[in-house]
Amino acid sequence: MSKPRIFITRSIFPEVIERLRGHFEVECNPSDEVMAPQELAAALRDKQGVYCTPTERMSAEIIAACPDLKAICNMAVGHNNIDLDAATRAGIMVTNTPDVLNETTADFAWALLLATARRVTESEHWLRAGKWDKWRIDTLLGVDVHGSTLGIIGMGRIGQAIARRSMGFDMQVIYHNRSRLSPELEAKANQARLVGKEELLRSADHVILTLPYTAESHHTIGAAELALMKPTATLVNIARGGIVDDAALIDALHAGRIAGAGIDVFENEPRFHPGFLGLSNVVLTPHLGSASAPTRKAMANCAADNLIAALTAGTPPNILNPQVQKKG
Ligand code: DGY
Repeated sequence: MSKPRIFITRSIFPEVIERLRGHFEVECNPSDEVMAPQELAAALRDKQGVYCTPTERMSAEIIAACPDLKAICNMAVGHNNIDLDAATRAGIMVTNTPDVLNETTADFAWALLLATARRVTESEHWLRAGKWDKWRIDTLLGVDVHGSTLGIIGMGRIGQAIARRSMGFDMQVIYHNRSRLSPELEAKANQARLVGKEELLRSADHVILTLPYTAESHHTIGAAELALMKPTATLVNIARGGIVDDAALIDALHAGRIAGAGIDVFENEPRFHPGFLGLSNVVLTPHLGSASAPTRKAMANCAADNLIAALTAGTPPNILNPQVQKKG
């Protein structure tokens, strides 16, 4: 019996490709360039499975052009690059890679929080520019993290991992989420307390965004929300571009309406608003939340596990649309 045919959209770890070859006829994008939609549709037309990353838009049009497709396996926990409704209507299983990246992404949120609050990258640029002539009482003063109030918007598994780390900093945690955590999970998340979004923005000294990008979460933080924050507050976005209105954030940072921001994800990335570059009170990183070597390998293997299970048994472990199982 011939093996199912799959397509891998970007360069991934060679050992993961080898694993997949054990189960499938594998075709790979020969370069690591993001494929144009027509190219992608052409590559997927005769495939049963696609192993994709957040850079591919698996749109309703592409899905409609690929009648043989049975599984779309994303190498990411976020899946706003995939039209889940269109895939579900077409009977295509969609999977993501939850859990394996929680701790690494939480570490990175903390890296951005600390770097923003204590002005780490700004200080380094200042030093490298030869501006350090002597110690002064007021050089590059930051804001404190320890003993402050941390506000987390989006209290899923990554949000909870961020909250747990705040115990060592003797912080209070408040959170805003669609639903309340169980008392056990709230206790583990440093006694986190559910509050409304407005209260969170007014009370938090540091706000971290970890919610998924959807039509509802578009511009969760815009000019009105930034105006509610304390002038000494910081904002960290490790979730997705589009959750923050970048132009409004740039205005707020420029005007000193908040103390600083740590931003890992951008509207229209990898392009980003040029206004960020003129600001010293922002730490900018290129979508690195999950980017440790062990975690990227775990994500790559998790996506492979999903694809193997989807096309061999029809029951992938991390299915996002369980109403679709075992097509064909
Ligand atoms: C995810 O898994 O959603 C990350 O943002 C990709 O690095």
